[in-house]
Amino acid sequence: MLPVIYDGDMGGDDLWAITLMLAHPDVFDVKGITTVFGNVDVNQATKNVCDLLAYLGREDIPVYVGADAPIQGRRMFGDDAYGEGGVGGVFFPENNKKAEDKNAIDFIVQTLKEANEPITLIGTGPMTNLALIVRDYPELHSQIKEIVVMGGAIKPGPHPVPPHRIGNITEAAEFNFFQDSFAPNIVTKSGIKLTIMTADVNQQYAITDDIKTRFRDIGSFGEMMIQMTSAVEHLDREKFGMDGPALHDPCVILYLLQQLNLGHFYKSAKNQGFSTTQTPEEWETNGAFILNDNKMNSWVVTETADIPAIIDTLYAAVKSFA
Ligand code: RIB
Ligand code: CA
Repeated sequence: MLPVIYDGDMGGDDLWAITLMLAHPDVFDVKGITTVFGNVDVNQATKNVCDLLAYLGREDIPVYVGADAPIQGRRMFGDDAYGEGGVGGVFFPENNKKAEDKNAIDFIVQTLKEANEPITLIGTGPMTNLALIVRDYPELHSQIKEIVVMGGAIKPGPHPVPPHRIGNITEAAEFNFFQDSFAPNIVTKSGIKLTIMTADVNQQYAITDDIKTRFRDIGSFGEMMIQMTSAVEHLDREKFGMDGPALHDPCVILYLLQQLNLGHFYKSAKNQGFSTTQTPEEWETNGAFILNDNKMNSWVVTETADIPAIIDTLYAAVKSFA
């Protein structure tokens, strides 16, 4: 079993990723889930993941509330991409699942300290919580096996509008790295292994109408999942000429499955530099992100290898909870 802590901003695609993770209870030993601002404020993010866990019958997984603002600079609540509540207006049944009293940082610190093997940290929102751990607890670095995040963009497509567009939130920046652009820079300089699943891989396929129909045929949970991801469709069509919405966050779980030889979804990660067109002075407002440190141990994934296998694996996960 792979021990993991999952940190996300709990928009619709974060909930897809968590569903995929929980569909593999024999693979992922989920120590807990932590929340961060991003798509919505941290309280709404916390409610979203509690609702999902209750719906999936996994109230046993503890949830901890994390940062509600970036390490430095402006707090930019949601880009409205995922619509009302961050989940495209989907309503989950009333439930009693609540976050624990302990905050996310204290939980991660205690879990790392007590772990008898290094833990993988998964991030699908702004990297604020993860960067605070890395910055403030250097003695715990050896207890982190790897950090795997969805963030950044290099050459997403297929038809960016305008043609030089890279990012989904500004023309230069991807949303998660834009929301707290200091956080990824802290993590890359730490030397901890960091794998970055860029928006590129998720924009190499769309959730087309045919795929939507396949998921809807699963029943009400399939319908809810499609509603959550469809919220971003108009943006992905307008900004990138896609033939449906992109589905970003499950890529982190798919990548971990691939690392464990449980599928082959992406081409190999590259140990490459990563930059946007902005200068360092513009980091704060433009979300630029530059890997140029000698201690760089960052791996960047930019290409899918088998899109039908990605869709089939997501389908199996959703169906397993129907
Ligand atoms: O750019 C896509 C990312 O921004 C996803 O993680 C989405 O949930 C939002 O946080
Ligand atoms: Ca997210």
